Amino acid sequence: MNIHIERPYVRRMDLADLPEALALDTECLPRPWSVGVWREELRSPHSMYFAIEEEGRIVAQIGLKFILDEAHVMTIAVYPSHRRRGYARALIQAALDAAPQARAVHLEVRPSNTAARALYESLGFDVTAQRPGYYGDEDALLMTLNLRAARRP
Ligand SMILES: CC(C)(COP(=O)(O)OP(=O)(O)OC[C@H]1O[C@@H](n2cnc3c(N)ncnc32)[C@H](O)[C@@H]1OP(=O)(O)O)[C@@H](O)C(=O)NCCC(=O)NCCS
Repeated sequence: MNIHIERPYVRRMDLADLPEALALDTECLPRPWSVGVWREELRSPHSMYFAIEEEGRIVAQIGLKFILDEAHVMTIAVYPSHRRRGYARALIQAALDAAPQARAVHLEVRPSNTAARALYESLGFDVTAQRPGYYGDEDALLMTLNLRAARRP
C-alpha cells in the first residue's frame, strides 16, 4: 500500500495579513509582538514571512530575517488545533527553499519549550550557545542549522 502525505501549501505573507498574524501570535506565544513590530516585520525588505491557510484562515506562520548569508528565525507558531501535522516543519523547509543563499540558520528557544526543541532537533539544528536572561524569566538556547552540511548531496 502506498501512503502519500501531501505537503501543505505555504504562501508568502504581506501587510494585509497583519490582523491574523497578530491573533495567531497572541494565542501561541507568551510574549506576542506589538502591532507596530508586526507591521515593521511584514514590511521589512530583510524579512520573509510565510503562512499555511486552512478554510481561508492562517493557521501557521513563520518569519525569518536575512543578514548576508545567515538566516534567523524570528517567530514560528501553529494554532494548538493544528499541531503535529507537520506544518511547522513544512514552514521551515519552505522558508529555507526560498533562501538558497543562506548558509546557516539560527534561532533562540526556551530550554523549557520541549515541543519546539524537538522540532528543531528533528531538522538537524544543534545547540550552539546559551543566552543568559534572554527572555527575562528564562535563558535562551541558540540553535543553529548548518545549511552547507544539510544541503550537501
Ligand atoms: C513548536 C510548534 C511551532 C511546532 O509546530 P507543529 O506544527 O506542531 O510541529 P510539526 O507538526 O511540524 O512537528 C515536526 C516534528 O517536531 C517534533 N515535535 C513537534 N511538536 C512536538 C511535541 N509537542 N512533542 C514532541 N515532539 C514534537 C516532532 O519530531 C515532530 O515530528 P512528528 O510529528 O513526525 O513526530 C508549535 O508547538 C507551536 O506553535 N508552539 C507554540 C509557539 C512556539 O513555541 N514557537 C517556538 C518558539 S522558539
